[in-house]
Amino acid sequence: MQRRIKAMHLFTISYYSKSRLLFLGKKLTKEIRLILDSCNRNNPLANITGTMIFNDHYFVQIMEGDRTLVSTMFSRIIQDPRHSDVVILNAGTIKERSFRDWSAAFAGHSEVIDQIYLKYSPIIGFLPQRMEAESLTMLMIDLSKSEARIAHSAITAPPRIVVHSQSESMNPPR
Ligand SMILES: Cc1cc2nc3c(=O)[nH]c(=O)nc-3n(C[C@H](O)[C@H](O)[C@H](O)COP(=O)(O)O)c2cc1C
Repeated sequence: MQRRIKAMHLFTISYYSKSRLLFLGKKLTKEIRLILDSCNRNNPLANITGTMIFNDHYFVQIMEGDRTLVSTMFSRIIQDPRHSDVVILNAGTIKERSFRDWSAAFAGHSEVIDQIYLKYSPIIGFLPQRMEAESLTMLMIDLSKSEARIAHSAITAPPRIVVHSQSESMNPPR
């Protein structure tokens, strides 16, 4: 009898959402660290690559991996009370991954980061609702490779948490 091999359907989904962390009166640095802990723990196990970019007001995330695993993760994330108003930017089958690992970056300001914003938008800053999905994706790829990157987790290595001190210098909650 011929054995049927279950093919992996490579899939991507990206979205942006409004952060509720300030509204909930949460300590931003601590909550972000908890979210990154979850990402670093679960994404490599599910072989989910991609990136999450955030600031005080927004989260934007790209996930890629097995269609079922990405969908399951996305369903879990959208129920998380730490954000709201999830808007899907893109979803569909892909031929290959754009990311080799999973990472996160803080959309703050520096000379280098501001130059990256200007490549994709006339405005210096991170306003996902004002950007085309494609520009936003390119911006995220650039930010995830830049000094804005604060955490990453290699998919081939055991999950680990790397949060550099830059996350400590995030704008304090107002
Ligand atoms: C904007 C946002 C993005 C998130 N992204 C992920 C993610 O990529 N992977 C993940 O495991 N959890 C993510 N989470 C956290 C999940 O909603 C959930 O709390 C977590 O997966 C629970 O798993 P744990 O019990 O292992 O922490 C995210 C949460 C928020 C608010």
